[in-house]
Amino acid sequence: MADKAILIIGDQRIELPVLVGTEGERAVDITTLREQTGLVTYDPSFGNTAACKSDITFIDGEKGILRYRGIPIEQFTEKPNFVEVAWLLIFGRLPKKDELDLFSQRLTENELLHEGLRHQYSHIPVDAPPMAILSATLNNLACFHQQFFKLVDDESFVEVAARLISKVRTIAAFSHRRSNGLPFNYPDPNLRYCANFLHMMFSIPYKQYIITPEIEDALNLIFILHADHEQNCSTSTVRTVGSARANLFASCAAGVSALWGPLHGGANVEVIEMLERIHHGGLAPEDCLRMAKDKSNPFRLFGFGHRVYKNYDPRAKILRESCDRVFATLRRQDPLLDIARKLEELALADSYFVDRKLYPNVDFYSGILLRAMGIPTNVFTVCFAIGRLPGWIAQWKEQHEDPTSRITRPRQVYTGPPQTDYVPMDQR
Ligand code: SDX
Repeated sequence: MADKAILIIGDQRIELPVLVGTEGERAVDITTLREQTGLVTYDPSFGNTAACKSDITFIDGEKGILRYRGIPIEQFTEKPNFVEVAWLLIFGRLPKKDELDLFSQRLTENELLHEGLRHQYSHIPVDAPPMAILSATLNNLACFHQQFFKLVDDESFVEVAARLISKVRTIAAFSHRRSNGLPFNYPDPNLRYCANFLHMMFSIPYKQYIITPEIEDALNLIFILHADHEQNCSTSTVRTVGSARANLFASCAAGVSALWGPLHGGANVEVIEMLERIHHGGLAPEDCLRMAKDKSNPFRLFGFGHRVYKNYDPRAKILRESCDRVFATLRRQDPLLDIARKLEELALADSYFVDRKLYPNVDFYSGILLRAMGIPTNVFTVCFAIGRLPGWIAQWKEQHEDPTSRITRPRQVYTGPPQTDYVPMDQR
């Protein structure tokens, strides 16, 4: 017998259906609430609100579970292949070899930027934030691919998805090269996805950048772990913009803007800056915890806490272990890793964090790994965006194909002044 929710308001009593998800999570379906009662619900940051049904990603925040199309993320760590996971998220199943090869070929064919776009870099300040460039350039990309404003068939969707996933690397690498006064490296069609990005970022004309398999694997893993995460802030933004039938370029550009926030994807930068302050003696780990607990202090222990995970973020666990492997390969240590471990140990022994179930999240260790690859701090959140792009595209596609989807338009509770009259200037 399906569950129902009974709502009694004054002398009105209504029954609302309860939806049950694959893993047994339940939701009160309030789609007829306003029509039946004239009431709306109030949930300002949507912490208690499901904005959609989705088949793409499942998180169990209490148990620290994350699955892409049902597959636990831990199963992608053996031989991490970001392009394969991107295909899985977007198309809903693991690709056959010929399908994956074909998609990889599409990425190779679409890795260049139009030269008109490349020239835009010469008019951007050298200290321009890479996330600003990325968001703007994803929108500019639309100017050169206007045929994808309306997706007329599956083929046009696959092509625009490939163009975005491929070119986002080139955009990111060109920004890095520009801000460092270095010549641009064009993509190398003989390199796989992550190796090509590292080549474009770091090769210099007179010295080939050597990409070790361990580093290439680590970057695949980082992108995989960032690839999707249900209805997080930036994904909800992409869905909201897409719900107005805006094109995929504009929707993903909006996602980049949301991701830039320090409470979201920008946290990986804040973590490294916090660890560096500790390393240079400007701050002690104990100071961080003290400030984080002080409500009068805006400081937060970045890389800790999560709206959904009330347990260790499974991505943080994998990244923490990956740090050891990468540093062993590079035969070096990073003092920031030891500091991060110390900070984690102190926090997880402190009742403030334990009582609030604040654990390390994906951003706590990701920056240390990116730093080990030589990726500069101001490109960290851009790397998060490269990883998240297939997830945004998958979620946008799922909504775009849903015949019941409507434009996102929440209600509000009005608390402003009651009706009043306009006062002419000479009477104010
Ligand atoms: C990402 O949603 C996603 O899925 C996001 C993401 C993804 O893959 O897309 O996982 C990526 O954004 C990870 C989160 C990265 N951000 C940070 O690391 C920034 C630091 N963390 C916090 O700002 C916070 O934990 C959030 C933003 C992540 C979550 O915020 P919530 O759910 O609104 O939690 P909250 O602010 O209501 O916190 C609940 C309590 C509060 O204290 P009390 O009012 O109960 O006394 O916990 C405290 C908060 O002050 N708290 C923290 C804290 N995080 C929460 N206190 C100090 N340091 C922190 N980091």
